[in-house]
Amino acid sequence: MSNFKSLVSGVGNLSKTTKYYDDWSKNYDETLKLWNYQAPKKSIKFLKETLNIKPKNILDLACGTGLFGIELKKIYPKSNIYGSDISKKSLKISSDKKIYIKLKNKNFEELHYYNTKFDLISLIGSMTYCKNFKKLFANINKNIKKKGFVLFTHRVDLWKQQDFFNILKKHQKTFKITKISRPLNYLPLNKDFENKIKIKIVLLQKN
Ligand SMILES: C[S@@+](CC[C@H](N)C(=O)[O-])C[C@H]1O[C@@H](n2cnc3c(N)ncnc32)[C@H](O)[C@@H]1O
Repeated sequence: MSNFKSLVSGVGNLSKTTKYYDDWSKNYDETLKLWNYQAPKKSIKFLKETLNIKPKNILDLACGTGLFGIELKKIYPKSNIYGSDISKKSLKISSDKKIYIKLKNKNFEELHYYNTKFDLISLIGSMTYCKNFKKLFANINKNIKKKGFVLFTHRVDLWKQQDFFNILKKHQKTFKITKISRPLNYLPLNKDFENKIKIKIVLLQKN
C-alpha cells in the first residue's frame, strides 16, 4: 500500500477500490493498528450505550478483514453475524477469523439475498465508498427487520460536502434517526487524518 493519500481523496471506481483493498488486505489489520483505528471500538461503545436489545441476526456490510465483526462477537457472542465485501482477499482474512457464519462477495449497493431478516445492519468505516445512497438504503431496507437498527460511521468532511443530514432526512419515512454522535477521532495516528478528519456514528431504526 503505497498511496495512503488516496484514503482521504478517494480510491476511484468499484474495480479500483476492490483492487486497492485486495492489495492492502494482508497488512490492513497491522496498518490500522499503527494508525490507532478507532471506528470499530467506538461504534460498539455507542451501540452498547444506545441499544437495549441484543440483536440476534447481524449483517456487517463492507466487513473487510473483520475488525468490526471481532468487536460485535465480543458483546454478542451468541448472535449470528453475516458479512459482505467487494474485496475477496479481505473476505478470506475475515473468514479465517471464524466470526462470520456466512460471507458474501458483494457490493453494498446491490441487493443482497438472505433467508433471514436482520436485527442490525452495520457499515463501519466504509460510507466513504458509497456512490448511490438510494441503492445502499434499498439494500438495507430489503434485508432489515421491522424496527431493526442500522449502525454506520461517516466522515465529517464528506458529511458536510454531501449535505448528508439532508440525505438522512429524505430516508426518514423508512429509517428514523435514533442517535448521531458528536465528531470523533477516526485515524488519530495517520498524518492525513489526525484530528483533522473525524467521523460521526449514526444509529437509525426502521419504522
Ligand atoms: C476502511 S475498510 C473498513 C472495513 C471494516 N468495516 C473495518 O471497519 O475495518 C473499507 C471496506 O469497504 C469495502 N468496500 C468499499 N466499497 C464497497 C462496496 N461498494 N461494497 C462493499 N464493500 C465495499 C472495502 O473493500 C473495504 O473492505
